[in-house]
Amino acid sequence: MNNSASPKPSTVPVLTQDELKTLVGQAALQYVVPGEIVGVGTGSTVNKFIDALATIKDQIKGAVSSSVASTERLRALGIPVFDCNEVQGLSVYIDGADEIDAQGNMVKGGGAALTREKIVAAQSARFVCIADESKLVEKLGKFPLPVEVVPMATRRIIGQFADMGAKATVRLKDGQPLVTDNGQHIIDVTGLQIADPLAFEAQVSQWPGVVTVGVFAFQRAQVCLLGTASGVKTLNF
Ligand code: 5RP
Repeated sequence: MNNSASPKPSTVPVLTQDELKTLVGQAALQYVVPGEIVGVGTGSTVNKFIDALATIKDQIKGAVSSSVASTERLRALGIPVFDCNEVQGLSVYIDGADEIDAQGNMVKGGGAALTREKIVAAQSARFVCIADESKLVEKLGKFPLPVEVVPMATRRIIGQFADMGAKATVRLKDGQPLVTDNGQHIIDVTGLQIADPLAFEAQVSQWPGVVTVGVFAFQRAQVCLLGTASGVKTLNF
């Protein structure tokens, strides 16, 4: 009789997307500078970061926030929130992304907070992107591109995207156009292949009525903490 045990199937636990978000949210703490104010983005991954930040809140001065939602979460956890105009510059901004490429260019705005996110990112010396590996793409344009627009310009801007061969639709909430923290609307654009993110961002940003385009190439990430099946991978750009 052969007593040798047959090899057991591998039981490496597969992390859920939510667990990957928690991992990168916690990993981002290493970029927070003690005694300083940290720039904080918006979204479900950033929520994990805010929860982690609360555990070291006594070591920081506070945060500059990119949305009403993040401000409320930060304050609820006892983290002071400063107005952007009160601070000279931030050493680090931590935020998620809808897509990120191998150069650190991103598509952002899935949570409709892109305008304030770009402002706080511009105020910061370093952008640390936190994302699960589903967000890493070869070329930007798979995720619908969010663009914040002044409502009276919506129709013309949709037409300009149509001229590029893309399709833009107004984002709705409860059957009505979603209104951003800045009182504007969002259009989501599909069918784009963004080969040159810098040129694309520069071009669309100039269209009258565009408040912010969701391509972050001028404010690209310098670091990405990517949640993968084998742990957090650090990409430096
Ligand atoms: C909000 C954003 C978010 O960073 C982006 O949508 C990613 O969100 P999540 O972490 O929930 O996947 O740009 O405007």
